[in-house]
Amino acid sequence: MERTLCIIKPDAVKKNVHGSIIQKTLDAGFHIAGLRLIQLSESQAKKFYEVHKERPFYNDLVSFMISGPVVVIALMKENAVAGWRKLIGATDPAEAEEGTIRKLFANSKQENAVHGSDSVENGKIEIGFFFTESELV
Ligand code: CMP
Repeated sequence: MERTLCIIKPDAVKKNVHGSIIQKTLDAGFHIAGLRLIQLSESQAKKFYEVHKERPFYNDLVSFMISGPVVVIALMKENAVAGWRKLIGATDPAEAEEGTIRKLFANSKQENAVHGSDSVENGKIEIGFFFTESELV
């Protein structure tokens, strides 16, 4: 089975829809290998999104990601990376398909409820950012 990283972002936790998002994820056949509610520090958020550091939205994104707690989840399923990206929908909820997590729960392109790894390789790196192998089942 493949793994991917899900982050339920501060907008969704503040709206109290993290439980609904987790239920939808389980209903879609994903297994949870690890899960934690955390408050990201500024340096953690900057490091996690380092690939976007030249983008105009980088500073706002970092501020948003530290604006409240997030739920980090290591998800497991066959083809988890592609499957999770399909379930969450496009980055911008206005462009996301009906029934996707972002269509249902996101506020905007930035406050888009959830994160998903964009490749198997990045999934491994991103899961390693939050979990040690011994913390995963
Ligand atoms: P995520 O999947 O976590 O990866 C990078 C994040 O940057 C993305 O979700 C959005 O939260 C944010 N993002 C991407 N593009 C934009 C944009 N054009 N304006 C604001 N935020 C963006």
